Amino acid sequence: MKVKSHIRRRRPLNSFALSRHGAQEVAVTTLAPTVGHLVRINPLTVEPSKTDKLLQVSLSRDGECHAPVAGVQSANLHVTRDGRHVANCATRRALAELWLRDAEAEYASVPAFGQVAWQLAALGSPASLLARANRGALDEIDHAERCYALASAYAGRALGPAPMRRLSRGMGKLPRSRAKALSVVAGEALVGGAFLESYNAALAHAWLEDATEAASREALTRMAVDEASHAELAWDIIAFCIDSGGEPVVRRLRGVARLVAVLPTPAAYRHEHLALVALADPHALRAHGRGRPEAWALTYASCRNETLTRLERLLAGAPRKPISSIEVTPS
Ligand SMILES: [Fe+2]
Ligand SMILES: [Fe+2]
Repeated sequence: MKVKSHIRRRRPLNSFALSRHGAQEVAVTTLAPTVGHLVRINPLTVEPSKTDKLLQVSLSRDGECHAPVAGVQSANLHVTRDGRHVANCATRRALAELWLRDAEAEYASVPAFGQVAWQLAALGSPASLLARANRGALDEIDHAERCYALASAYAGRALGPAPMRRLSRGMGKLPRSRAKALSVVAGEALVGGAFLESYNAALAHAWLEDATEAASREALTRMAVDEASHAELAWDIIAFCIDSGGEPVVRRLRGVARLVAVLPTPAAYRHEHLALVALADPHALRAHGRGRPEAWALTYASCRNETLTRLERLLAGAPRKPISSIEVTPS
């Protein structure tokens, strides 16, 4: 997917040479005509003791941010196609980091769906659930690719998957007891699917309200639809587990629901991103698909309430079959 087209080149620009003070080194930025970036580089000379003051003054100027590079302050100004939004250097760095964070989370979701598919097969679920779980993995690959593409465009270099050590240990085993296995799968579906996938879908919807940049709008639109369908898959997995496992599954779900009710609200930004986000233009962040930070807590709370309410409705009508009467689907 091409994501660079949202930056308009307003006049022909070819290349700039940037000399570093106190060194012989010369850095050259080349702008290919097809990239379509508008980049302005202003080399400023400043005494180190006055660098912070210059940064503050410069930050107050419309749409500009200065990044210190070995004694030279460079200011980049980026304009969206509609001309209404300006992304400064700090904003682009923040956008790259934030989209990269999402890309990694999306990528980690791929094996999570693999695990769901493996568990469903182990439990002899209907093939339709297995098919949807596998489609879910492909959806997450698509999401990861979109997020990596956005992160790469903002970073100005190719970014992609890195090794994830936490995944190297592989997937956990299911309990040998079918009733316990169904309970485990149902509980995981409630938290990781019904709740968190609906939360992700709602966040994408919320961010779309402010997003004006085409590629991020496309990614958010796709993710909002897919994550909502993943949440629905989770509800169907829960229903399958209840139908197959009866009362033990219901008890487990009630216990997990109590845990969901007290889960801490996630922070809008990771600690290591706070300084970067503080320097960024909040309007540009929103225009480029990074929603308002306050949306996190509000969306989390409403999705949690909706999930618990829906679960309660489901459990109120859930069958209470003893485990001995459950028909085991041959695998
Ligand atoms: Fe996703
Ligand atoms: Fe998802």
